[in-house]
Amino acid sequence: MAGPGAGGDRSPRETNFLDHLNSQAAVVDAVRARAEETAGQPDRCLAWMGVERQAERYLRESRASGGAARRLQRFEAELDAHREGMESAVTDARKEIDAVDAATRDAARRRLGLRIAVVGKGGSGKTMISATLGRILARQGRKILAADLDTCPGLAISLGLGMGMGMGEGEGEGEEATGVPMSVEEHAGAAYGWRLASGVTPEQAVDRHAAIAPDGVRFLSLGKIDEPEKQAAKQTVVAMRQILNGFGEPDWDVLGDMEAGPTTPFEHYHSFADRVIVVVGPAWRSGLTARRLLPMVNDVPTVVVANRFRDEPDHEGLEPVLRIPYDSEVAAAERLGVAPIDYCPDAAAVKAVEQLAGLFLPQEVSL
Ligand SMILES: Nc1ncnc2c1ncn2[C@@H]1O[C@H](COP(=O)(O)OP(=O)(O)O)[C@@H](O)[C@H]1O
Ligand SMILES: [Mg+2]
Repeated sequence: MAGPGAGGDRSPRETNFLDHLNSQAAVVDAVRARAEETAGQPDRCLAWMGVERQAERYLRESRASGGAARRLQRFEAELDAHREGMESAVTDARKEIDAVDAATRDAARRRLGLRIAVVGKGGSGKTMISATLGRILARQGRKILAADLDTCPGLAISLGLGMGMGMGEGEGEGEEATGVPMSVEEHAGAAYGWRLASGVTPEQAVDRHAAIAPDGVRFLSLGKIDEPEKQAAKQTVVAMRQILNGFGEPDWDVLGDMEAGPTTPFEHYHSFADRVIVVVGPAWRSGLTARRLLPMVNDVPTVVVANRFRDEPDHEGLEPVLRIPYDSEVAAAERLGVAPIDYCPDAAAVKAVEQLAGLFLPQEVSL
């Protein structure tokens, strides 16, 4: 029987699927090779935690997209081999992690980067929270990659990059102001017809295309999204997902400011994340959206954060871990196009996001 390796007769979609599996395997091989190089070094445990997390993420993604993959039936064997490879990476990583003493392990766990997706209804405060959280974590000495996955962008401004950034202009060093600010290649089998250029690793893409925001936060966006048809966003969204899913730096925090509405969570755009923040505002519809979103993202731990509340009661069944109050200074920062943390660092809402950062850091609680 002609297996998928027999070549020649694959559809673009099938080629893309196999390439996708191969690029995931390459990512795990790379983080693993780095971990193996750390023999005897203090970062060894952290590096293996990075391997464990990376392989687990791809296993999760494989489970989530299992139905779709199985429709490409003839790749059952490739899928099994892929899963086995990921499982053995997890097993090997756990062996290394268990071999160190508890204090070393705890220290590594604290340094392991957070991977957080922020979802919720439009206007609930996803962008304010993502940006402020990113800046706060960066000030605590953490390395931050903040990604705007919303085709109605705003994260650049809330991070303090000013107007005009995040629209595909002036991103990265030496990047031309026109053209898609991402290393992408056309492929008929990829969603929207484009994917991350072959041979470009997620880390290289971040290096090349992320703008540098205040406090050293690295910022990635979907490109020139203000243009008609959102052409650039279509060309970059698959690459963005590949970058976030495959970004193997073990000690970097990755924050994704997600698009409002149910489409992207339904398609598991949060798959890069280990945790999801569901932001809910006081409006009834915001509660409704949060309730719809929760079951779509609960393959990872979720927390509800209430934002912009004055004295309205919590939504029933949506107990927040934290309440960020309505704060007129935050709203004013937005009108001026500046970052809340720069405009009103002592505002109650900014202080509340500091508490949120504390909740996520592993030394506080495990969510
Ligand atoms: N705690 C808050 N108090 C007052 N205004 C807020 C607060 N959080 C967000 N805002 C404002 O509400 C609007 C929507 O917030 P934003 O973060 O852009 O939401 P989203 O990204 O979910 O669409 C913005 O104008 C923002 O400045
Ligand atoms: Mg937003």
